[in-house]
Formats: sequence, structure tokens, C-alpha cells
Amino acid sequence: MRLLVCGGAGFIGSTFVRLRLREYGDDVTVLDKLTYAGRRENLHDVIDNIRFVHGAIEDPAAVGAAVIECDAIVNFAAETHVDRSISGPEAFIITNMQGTHVLLEAARERGLRYVQVSTDEVYGSIDSGSFTEFSPLQPSSPYSATKCGADLLVSSYYHTYGLSTTICRGSNNYGPYQYPEKLIPLMILNALAGDHLPVYGDGRNVRNWLYVEDFGHGISYALAHGAPGETYNCGGPDECENIDVVRQILSLTGREDSLIEYVKDRPGHDRRYSLASDKLRALGWTPRVDFHEGIARTVDWYRSNAWWWEPIRTGEYLEYYERHYGRALKP
Ligand code: NAD
Ligand code: DAU
Repeated sequence: MRLLVCGGAGFIGSTFVRLRLREYGDDVTVLDKLTYAGRRENLHDVIDNIRFVHGAIEDPAAVGAAVIECDAIVNFAAETHVDRSISGPEAFIITNMQGTHVLLEAARERGLRYVQVSTDEVYGSIDSGSFTEFSPLQPSSPYSATKCGADLLVSSYYHTYGLSTTICRGSNNYGPYQYPEKLIPLMILNALAGDHLPVYGDGRNVRNWLYVEDFGHGISYALAHGAPGETYNCGGPDECENIDVVRQILSLTGREDSLIEYVKDRPGHDRRYSLASDKLRALGWTPRVDFHEGIARTVDWYRSNAWWWEPIRTGEYLEYYERHYGRALKP
């Protein structure tokens, strides 16, 4: 298949590109703006086997150049960090909503298949039970509101123009190449450095963890077998309180619990996410990696790939960290 992968230099997008080249032999073009979270290093082992276009999804000229000779668009490109959406929502509105619109127009003009990569956060928080694809959309943060807006726009292109769209909503991903602003890589790198581990609130918020390759497979099932106009949840096999995730990381890195520091909570912090994925499972998908195995693999990867993360823990990252947590990282 000839795929345009938008946001393919990010964490999940680069994993998806690797998986599609390896398991499907696709012809892949990546369109990516290379924001702080998008890095050529994420594609280091496959860069010679793809076409890379440096550009923004909200720029119709860049999209027009990238989409040539493609059969389908899979859109991962987004501003993705909830905390950054709270301190500066504008970039989220431009990329996540305006950018999705430009991609939908490109797909409509050319009659392309379109897959939108979305998130469980569009449903908001759930105290018990799990969200299905029919649950109401109740986003809490500017990030999830813009992902929601994008999803609604995608559905409108199916209903109004008959575009062959599919939405795939994943739960919290983790694994190699994740930018260390997110819980798991941040805690792993701080633990390896013997630095504090900043846990928000009481640490008892629950996330539904999904190993990143399993999400890549889930999106592939939705692309191949998903019915046009449908949405598919892709939830991980395990739910875990944040504090348990952090304790497992401390144990895997051989550090003491005394590194844990409870810090000010995130405003509007969703308590629990949980997805029912029966619809995607009915297409044949099933997650292969449980949290116990996935977190051990992930800690090993960060331990062995300092070449990847050392350049990140400089400049913008250190400024962001100090601004956000009110303290500097250990030099
Ligand atoms: P990421 O932040 O690691 O990567 C995002 C990528 O998009 C980067 O390569 C970045 O350069 C690129 N990008 C940002 N703005 C762009 C623009 N305007 N034009 C072109 N490229 C742009 O994110 P991720 O965690 O890999 O998430 C990928 C997608 O999956 C997002 O749509 C996100 O909402 C969704 N998602 C993420 C998770 C998760 O746990 N990380 C879970 C479910 C869904
Ligand atoms: O659920 C899917 C979503 O998962 C994706 O759509 C988002 O793009 C992705 O960022 C992620 O959002 P979360 O807000 O759940 O992930 P984050 O890693 O930021 O936080 C996970 C949990 O850990 C959350 O309850 C907040 C908490 N946390 C996070 C950080 C960064 C802390 O306690 N301390 C921290 O320093």
C-alpha cells in the first residue's frame, strides 16, 4: 500500500512506520513538522527506506507535495501533551483541528482512504466500567477538546462527502522513542539519574496502558478491515494507578521509593481512563504485550539508548521542566 503517514517522526507514528515497512512492505511517505516531539532520530533505522517531507499538516502546499502517489492517509500528527495544552492551547487548535481539516480536504479531492489516530481522552473520565464507541464525548482539557473536534470533522467528511474514513482511539501508549515529558519515560530517566519522581496529586489516577506496537497493529487492523465511517477503540490489556507504575519503574531501575515526590495536581486532571475494544477485537486485533513485560522492555530500551535521549535533556526540555515543575533537573 502507498501510505502517507502524517506525524511519522513522533513516538507512535515512527513505530507505525517501522511496523508497516517490516510487516506489510508498504511504500511510505512521512509528512512531519519536526516540532520538539518529532525527531529524525526516531526514524534513524528506516530513513533510507521512506520518503520524508518536512512540513506542517495545516499547510496545504506541504500536504499537496506529500500526498502525491498515495492511496491512504494515516494521521498521527498532533500536539499531544496535556500539560502543554493547559499552558498554551493555541498550537493544539491549529495542528489538531485546522491541520486535520487540510488533510481531509486533500483526501476528498483525491478520493483517498483516511484514518484518524485519536485518543480515549475524548470520552473524558470514567469512575467504573469502560467507554465504548457509543459513549458521549466529554473532553476535559484543551488537548482532548481539539482531538474531539478533529474526530467530529472526520465523521462529517464521511457523512457529507462519502469519504472513506476510520477513527481509531487508543489508550495510553508507552514504549521506546516516547518523548520524556510523558509519565513513563520521564520517570524512567529521572530514576536512572537518581532525580526526584514528580507524582501529581495523590498518584491514584488510573491509566489503561497499551504497548506502542500493539497500537500500531490496532491501527493496521482498522485501516485494513474497518468499515468506512466507523470508530474503533484500541485499549491496552492493563489498568494501573500512576503510583504503581512509578513503583514498578523504581524497582526495575534499582532505586528507592524515597525518590517519589508528590507535587501539585494537574488542573482538571482526569481520574480514570478505560476503553472497551470489543469492536476492534472482532476485526481480529488483540494486544500481545502486557504491562509487566512492556514496562521491563521499555526500561531496558531507555537504559541502552542514551544516544537517543541525552540530546533531548538539554535546551528547550530543561526550560520546560523548570517552568512546569518549578525546579531544575540534576545536571
Ligand atoms: P508525539 O508528540 O510523540 O508526536 C507527534 C508528531 O506529530 C511529532 O513527530 C510532531 O513533529 C508531529 N507534528 C506536530 N505538529 C505537526 C504539524 N502541525 N504538522 C505535521 N506534523 C506535526 O505524539 P504521539 O504520542 O506519537 O501521538 C501520535 C498520535 O496518537 C496523536 O494524534 C495522539 O493524539 C494520538 N494518541 C497518543 C496516545 C499516547 O499515549 N501517546 C494515545 C492515543 C492516541
Ligand atoms: O490516554 C491517551 C493519552 O495519553 C494521549 O492521548 C495523550 O497524547 C498522552 O499524552 C497521554 O495523556 P495523559 O495525560 O494520560 O499522559 P501523561 O503521560 O501526561 O500522564 C499520565 C498520568 O501520569 C496522568 O494521570 C498524569 C500523571 N503524571 C504525569 C506527568 C507528566 C504525573 O503524575 N506526573 C508527571 O510528571
